[in-house]
Amino acid sequence: MKALLLYSTTDGQTRAIASYIANSLQGALACDVVDLQDAGAVRLADYQVVALGASIRYGHFNPVLDKFVRQHADELNRLPTAFYGVNLTARKPEKRTPQTNPYVRKFLLASPWKPTTSAVFAGALRYPRYRWLDKVMIRFIMRMTGGETDTSKEVEYTDWNEVERFAQEIARIAGKQ
Ligand SMILES: Cc1cc2nc3c(=O)[nH]c(=O)nc-3n(C[C@H](O)[C@H](O)[C@H](O)COP(=O)(O)O)c2cc1C
Repeated sequence: MKALLLYSTTDGQTRAIASYIANSLQGALACDVVDLQDAGAVRLADYQVVALGASIRYGHFNPVLDKFVRQHADELNRLPTAFYGVNLTARKPEKRTPQTNPYVRKFLLASPWKPTTSAVFAGALRYPRYRWLDKVMIRFIMRMTGGETDTSKEVEYTDWNEVERFAQEIARIAGKQ
């Protein structure tokens, strides 16, 4: 048996977090790391634990998240499962728990799937890679919220020690620690 690490990403940070978790579980659990867009054929029953990570864009998770959760809620609720959200609001420590991060809190309240454990990670701000309009919009949001406004910069806010702790939590709920 093994772990399934599903991720929904636009710019790659949530995939990087899923890969980090897979590396850190090496030895304890074999992992399949799968983009949620390609998860149609996965058989959840083949896994001992499922972790699902998703990022926020303009206030919303990708609709594939809701679709997957609605389709698989019963199966997910029978397994040890973990959910994590990735966004820039979480760069502020007081917005980095499932209860205090507005996106994750809202998702968990509405979700028919009740993950065994959940987390929030700060994502990355990579101005040079954004399209013009996204760059303008994100800079505006950063200015409003006291964040980085220099559009030549790339800033990774993800705390990898927190990701490591969450990986250990995933091993624990899978009964591997
Ligand atoms: C176009 C765009 C819109 C975003 N909207 C939000 C937002 O509404 N709230 C937020 O906290 N972060 C927002 N972010 C930040 C992303 O969640 C963050 O960059 C994250 O690392 C993206 O993860 P991904 O690379 O896995 O898609 C936005 C980023 C971009 C590029």
